[in-house]
Amino acid sequence: MTTMDTQAKPDTRNNLVNSGEFCLTAKDFAEIAAVMHREAGIALQDNKVNLVYSRLAKRLRLLELKNFHEYCDLIRDQSSTAGRNERDAMIAALTTNVTKFFREPHHFEHLKSHILPKLIHQAKLGHPVRIWSSACSSGQEPYSIGLTILSLLPEAANYDIKILATDIDQNMIALGQAGSYDQSALNAVPPALVQRWFSAVAGGTGEMQVNAELRSLVRFRKLNLMGNWPMRGLFHAIFCRNVVIYFDYETQSQVWGRMVPLLAPEAALYIGHSERVSGPAEALLRSDGVTIYRHAHNMRVAP
Ligand SMILES: C[S@@+](CC[C@H](N)C(=O)[O-])C[C@H]1O[C@@H](n2cnc3c(N)ncnc32)[C@H](O)[C@@H]1O
Repeated sequence: MTTMDTQAKPDTRNNLVNSGEFCLTAKDFAEIAAVMHREAGIALQDNKVNLVYSRLAKRLRLLELKNFHEYCDLIRDQSSTAGRNERDAMIAALTTNVTKFFREPHHFEHLKSHILPKLIHQAKLGHPVRIWSSACSSGQEPYSIGLTILSLLPEAANYDIKILATDIDQNMIALGQAGSYDQSALNAVPPALVQRWFSAVAGGTGEMQVNAELRSLVRFRKLNLMGNWPMRGLFHAIFCRNVVIYFDYETQSQVWGRMVPLLAPEAALYIGHSERVSGPAEALLRSDGVTIYRHAHNMRVAP
């Protein structure tokens, strides 16, 4: 029986929720869901059984494990390197990394016309400009921010302008640092910007790589939104897009409660198309367009 044939119907005798190539019991699924929630904030409802099965079956095959019970033994063992590494691999396998250049283009138009002119003026006076792309996936989002800056200020690399690009998934961080993309991924980038800020990768792979000036604007770091945030100082814009949609309401509110106080007065917060800011942090923001907020007060959220 293939994964696709398998229904997510509980087998009441063995408590199996998926009995494909590998047995997955309700207990195994609950343990995986609990780890995902605790470690990454991701809420996996029961209707995600088949998604969990199909994405993790590849891991079980690779690790030559017999069933999900053995897999759970492995991720539970945080005293071993293998256990810790597999927990990271599981989080990477169960998160969604879909992204593209200039996704939700109205955010970049807003950044260009409402936020950057003042920041560029400040940068020219010697002040730092800080922008955070907080779930950056493979880098298209922070590089789109960089391209928007370069379109207004081609010599941006000469100023103290930095985009912090973070993600929970080290594989995504590595892709962002490599900065090489298929030609097709660049379809949404204006041709003049591709010509100016990308170069063809040697060897005829057809890939294009960000050039040194664009790269120098972006710093990639692994960061879990559920963990410590070591950054100091405020941001002039934060992109937190298409990530909290995977969290439950309470976790979302906690993230906003930590993130909004990191906005400088009048700074912008850009969120995903199906997301909204919830919890006490909402009172610190005013709407400035569809899925765009501005920090309204220079005050902190009450603890
Ligand atoms: C769907 S992508 C969104 C990428 C980009 N922001 C965009 O809108 O195109 C979601 C990203 O969130 C990351 N992610 C999921 N949980 C996270 C967490 N707890 N902390 C940081 N990043 C997380 C995933 O690794 C993934 O790269």
